[in-house]
Formats: sequence, structure tokens, C-alpha cells
Amino acid sequence: MKKSILDLNRMADEGEKITYLTCYDYLTAKYQERAGVDMILVGDSMGMVALGYDTTFPVTMDDMIRACQAVRRGAPNTFIVGDMPYMSYQISDEQAVENAGRFIKEAGCDAIKLEGCTPAIAGRVRAISEAGILVSGHLGLTPQFAGQLGGYKAQGKTADTALKLLEQAAEIEKAGAAMILIEGVPAVVGKAITERAGIPILGIGAGSHTHGQLLIYADMVGLYDNFTPKFVKKYADVGAELFKGFEAYIKEVHAGTFPDDVEHTYKISDEETKKLEELLSGK
Ligand code: KIV
Repeated sequence: MKKSILDLNRMADEGEKITYLTCYDYLTAKYQERAGVDMILVGDSMGMVALGYDTTFPVTMDDMIRACQAVRRGAPNTFIVGDMPYMSYQISDEQAVENAGRFIKEAGCDAIKLEGCTPAIAGRVRAISEAGILVSGHLGLTPQFAGQLGGYKAQGKTADTALKLLEQAAEIEKAGAAMILIEGVPAVVGKAITERAGIPILGIGAGSHTHGQLLIYADMVGLYDNFTPKFVKKYADVGAELFKGFEAYIKEVHAGTFPDDVEHTYKISDEETKKLEELLSGK
């Protein structure tokens, strides 16, 4: 049965770990739901993982909505978070609420996620939440702020910056967030934020103490090999399996052994074959 925010809150309260994976397409969503993942993030990481961009900046609202619709079709009974892409919420509260609403109305998402904690972003969290939409904050290594952060670097590595992250988490929770994703921080910082939060804290590269764990699915099944962050554990080598399959197919077609005449070929009866030969003779 699909988990609601009440189930996720209960899991966080009772110390039952929440599992969370990214997903961008129908087929993968089907496998994730079948495996029993609690939550799916249709992340703007899709830009890099599925669309081949170098960053997440080019991803559009329409890209995200289309992907969320496909993931919803593949995982009808899983809590889905739609990720608001770059410049879909930065401009105004009105823009943010309108685009957040599209994730719910057009794609059947359960919540949206947005990055950062400037006063303006806290305002966006409040506005979207007051429109009745569940909001996930996203703090720490926030890729949409990579320019200001000086790159894709772990955050909160000094006491002062760690304290700042704790303050930001409290601020985003106060603004009405239903959960917060913390990315790329030392485990001690993930722990301190989690212990002080009244909402579920999900972590990606934030240590083992957060209420739940997120990974980018293509990293953990060995599909995305452009680079691998330190916190990724590889649970499967799907890339190698795909390669093996594609290579074997190419070899067999070249060798003329696929398709064979028995197992993978349609047939007609001997009688119809004979008739066809007669019809073709003289043509
Ligand atoms: O887009 C995404 O998948 C994310 C993760 C990197 C946390 O936001």
C-alpha cells in the first residue's frame, strides 16, 4: 500500500529507516516499486543521468512533468517526490506555487522538493505548503547553488558551517516543510540535524543517522559511470549486464545465428508455404 506522510512520520518517530531512490522512467519505477522502496524522487539529476547534460541547469518543468508521469505509471503505489528544476521556483512565490501545483495536478506526485535556504526560498516553502502541497527541503550540497558553493563539494565541514546548516534545517522546518533532504555533509552533521528535527530527515551522503537514505539509482546499480561520489555503494552492475547483452546480440546478428529458424521466427504451414511458392513462381 502506498505510504502517506503520516506513515513516513511514524517511521521516522519509531526509528524504522525510510528507503528512497531516484527514478526517471516507467520501467525502472516498476522494478523499484516491486522491490518495495518507500519513496521515489524524480530528481532533476535526470538532466545528467537520463538526458546527458553536464549539469542539472538545463532541465525544464516539462521534462520533469513528463518523467514524473512515467514514474507514476510505473509505481502507482509509491510515495513520489517531484523535484523542482532550476528557475522553476526562484522567481516568485506565485511562480513556485504554480509549478509545484503542476507536479501534483499533471503528474500525480505526492510532494515536491526544492533546494536551498535563503530567506526567499524559505518564503517559497511557506507559500507552497500553504497551498496544501507537501514540501521537501534540500540542504547541504545543493547542485542548483553549485556556483555559489564553489562546485559540487561536501558542506558543513567546519563547526561554523555545520551550525549554519542546523539553523537552515530549523528554518525550513518552521516554514512548513514536511521533510528535508540533506546532501553531502559529514555524518556528525546529519546526526545533529536529525536529532533536532520534528520531521523526517532523508540523507544522501549524510551518514547513517538520518531517518532515511537516498541514492541516485543509476549510481547504485552501476549504470552511471561518468563519476561516482564517495558515498555511493554499488549494489549491482547493470551497466556490465547491458553491455554483455548488446555485445552478444551484435555478434549473433553478424554471424547470422540470430534469428534462428525455429525459436524466434514466425511460421506458416507447409501447405501455405507451398501455395505461396506457387504464387511466387513466375513473378
Ligand atoms: O536531483 C536529484 O536527484 C537530487 C539528488 C542529487 C539529491 O536532488
